[in-house]
Amino acid sequence: MTSPSTGRSPKGTGTITVPPAARHSRIVGVGGYRPKRVVPNSELVDRINSSDEWIRERSGITARHVAEPDESVVDMAEAATRQALDHAGITAEQLDFILVATVTHPFQTPAAAPELAARLGSTAAATDISAACAGYCYGVAMASDMVRGGSADHVLVVGVEKLSDFTDYDDRGTAFIFGDGAGAAVIGPSDTPGIGPTVWGSDGTQRDVISQVQPWTELRQPWSEPTNDPRLWPAIGMAGPSVFRWAVWGMAPIAQQALDRAGVTADDLDAFIPHQANVRIIDAMAKQLKLPADVPIARDITTTANTSAASVPLATARMLADGEAPSGGLALQIGFGAGLVYAAQVVVLP
Ligand code: UT7
Repeated sequence: MTSPSTGRSPKGTGTITVPPAARHSRIVGVGGYRPKRVVPNSELVDRINSSDEWIRERSGITARHVAEPDESVVDMAEAATRQALDHAGITAEQLDFILVATVTHPFQTPAAAPELAARLGSTAAATDISAACAGYCYGVAMASDMVRGGSADHVLVVGVEKLSDFTDYDDRGTAFIFGDGAGAAVIGPSDTPGIGPTVWGSDGTQRDVISQVQPWTELRQPWSEPTNDPRLWPAIGMAGPSVFRWAVWGMAPIAQQALDRAGVTADDLDAFIPHQANVRIIDAMAKQLKLPADVPIARDITTTANTSAASVPLATARMLADGEAPSGGLALQIGFGAGLVYAAQVVVLP
């Protein structure tokens, strides 16, 4: 064919060589890291005129892990990754791509992923994903497609948050909700399907219901004096009841679609691992999905709180470690949060 702009024809002497297409993918290993310091509700309630009972009843949370001041997103990501690599039985050199899902890495640039790669002695392609509490499930979808498409053999997906850096502990609506931690998964090739089709999407018209309360640029313009005004710190704000309604009524149908697209039913599941946002949201979703009573449900939120991108992989690692969910079993996982964004898929547990 002749190009209309140049009148030239393609040489036609070369063809692109690509890796084999359309192989399957699966999660081959997971790992989790929770900071040592445990902060019970009682330590937070005075500042927000609340109570341990109210927090337990409205959210299911009794405590959260909080990182040390000098413990970074990359430190936590590294700890979870080393466990996931061990579980997968591969070395860091075998990783072709590293995806870090986070909204609390405190550098606009560079991303956390290349720094994590360097820690591991890896020169894999590396980038971050900003999809808040859906970040891990977004990452699993992308990693699965990379493996299936042949652009990578092994992809590391990390969900990690140091939300304590971005929580306003005087805000009644969020002070008790968040926790810190990291979860990681290695996605690799498989002879049989191990990651079902992802059902995902966004609703940016609701960007304001969970958002940094200020853009970074409010803090200091390049031409202005720095400010120490604490009200300008860009903590994460949330219109809790709006998000709650969206999660309860909007997300169960998405989870059901993930089951349908994978060709399985709730009866086939060995675990339900939703984002750990609120135990009442988790229970409402399970009810709408008509989950049989024998399907274990992740309730890691009780002692880990809401760790955003880390919540699904952390809950997965715990369920496997505790023998609550079986290796080789089917799990339905769903992440949802700021954006608003969401993603759900059925996976075979490693
Ligand atoms: O991870 C991303 C996705 N995030 C989520 O999915 C979170 C979704 N939202 C939630 O989980 C819930 O909205 C919260 C747990 C954040 C709040 O629970 P809620 O049942 O929605 O509380 P509310 O904001 O509707 O407040 C109910 C009552 C109010 O009092 P009145 O007006 O009924 O007298 C509030 O003033 O509780 C009061 N209240 C509190 N009381 C004690 C609000 N916050 C607190 C508090 N302690 N911290």
